[in-house]
Amino acid sequence: MKLENVVPFGRSMHEYEKMFLLSDEDINKKIIGVGDGPASFNAEMFAQGKSVISVDPLYVFRAEEIEKRFYSVVDNIIAQVKSTPNDWIWSYHKSPEHLKENRLNVLRRFVADYENGKNQGRYVVGELPTLEFDDSQYQLALCSHFLFLYSDHFTYEFHRTSV
Ligand SMILES: C[S@@+](CC[C@H](N)C(=O)[O-])C[C@H]1O[C@@H](n2cnc3c(N)ncnc32)[C@H](O)[C@@H]1O
Repeated sequence: MKLENVVPFGRSMHEYEKMFLLSDEDINKKIIGVGDGPASFNAEMFAQGKSVISVDPLYVFRAEEIEKRFYSVVDNIIAQVKSTPNDWIWSYHKSPEHLKENRLNVLRRFVADYENGKNQGRYVVGELPTLEFDDSQYQLALCSHFLFLYSDHFTYEFHRTSV
């Protein structure tokens, strides 16, 4: 993985809860987050005493490198969003500025947790289509904004094997 090809935009626990309709029961399961990248889901769940392991090839990089990459792309991405207003629905984020603010807060939360989480084995380097875990090692697998989002880059066979 090359950092210059990555847009390290991550989502919050609240966004994960809304996207996956996570129930109280789900939240208390042993969870694996595949392709969690710089999301703050793991950090926020850990702070609440929940169990999440995040797996992503991005985790070969140090926090400062991921952070640096975020700051080098964020304004350009927000400008692209602003230039395509009809492509977006502003019911969750109210504006491009609000989106930027949330992504920044998420990154800060992730970065603050990352080194500690790596040492605790909560951020693990790995990549689909094959992960080094046992069958049924986790009770719930989540994959946010990776599978089916990059269908132009990854084949049907890649998706099938990953699932
Ligand atoms: C758009 S980001 C989503 C991050 C996070 N899941 C979220 O929703 O905020 C896509 C993530 O997929 C990761 N990724 C790229 N190739 C991958 C692979 N082969 N297996 C697992 N994750 C991968 C990237 O590093 C990146 O962190």
